[in-house]
Amino acid sequence: MGTVGLFDSGVGGLTVARAIRRRLPGADLLYLGDTARFPYGPRPAAQVEEFTRQGVTFLHAAGASRVVVACNTATVAGLPEAAGASVPVWGVVKAGALPAVRATRNGRVLLLATQLTVDSGAHARLAAEVNPRVVIVGRSAPDLVRLVEEGRLAGEATREAVRAHARAVREAGADTLILGSTHIAALDELFREILGETVTVVDPATELAERLARVESGEGAGSWRLCVTGEPMAFRRAAEAVLGQGLPPPERVRLE
Ligand code: DGL
Repeated sequence: MGTVGLFDSGVGGLTVARAIRRRLPGADLLYLGDTARFPYGPRPAAQVEEFTRQGVTFLHAAGASRVVVACNTATVAGLPEAAGASVPVWGVVKAGALPAVRATRNGRVLLLATQLTVDSGAHARLAAEVNPRVVIVGRSAPDLVRLVEEGRLAGEATREAVRAHARAVREAGADTLILGSTHIAALDELFREILGETVTVVDPATELAERLARVESGEGAGSWRLCVTGEPMAFRRAAEAVLGQGLPPPERVRLE
């Protein structure tokens, strides 16, 4: 199989890389975090669309034969436009919305995401195509996105922030939670622990890795290459918090 390129504003897309690595251990992965321009969530959609186009172009030029836009915000702003590229480009929104529609029993789903993703209504549109009775309540969580980008996956401040969002899940009467930002998906275990078994927690990375395994053999060298547009050492620390040790040093690159 060829190299799979992954694009995100920071470390969030590593949650997608993690799921792909588990499902296809031999996959060769090329990761690009546009950390110099993190966060994307508060930006205008047109700007994120342009950044996404640049990221996809970079990954293609650097040898990716398939690109996963491993960022919900970039997916809602940048696809299908970036899909005009000459390599297949996949987003992560469908991989969150569809499993949530399948999982909910009471028809109420909470979406935790960036403001741009919530405002786009993309998850709700996809859900309505499958089951119009499912209600998706959007809630933005820039605090969680920032904590993860800083590599703060544990600790009392993070637990307290997760508890506050978990309360909102219950207040919304939702029985299903979409971790609708790849950053927030790095807190999946904490959400599962705090919410308990009555709420289904959906990490889009799981479905995405399954879909990828249907079209890719996974017969590569299991290599990694990490590229960032910002400071490599800060990224490395946060990346190790998400994925553990053993990653190659990130390279600094420029996007245009
Ligand atoms: N990882 C991005 C996502 O999935 C959000 C982070 C950001 O705001 O840049 O939406």
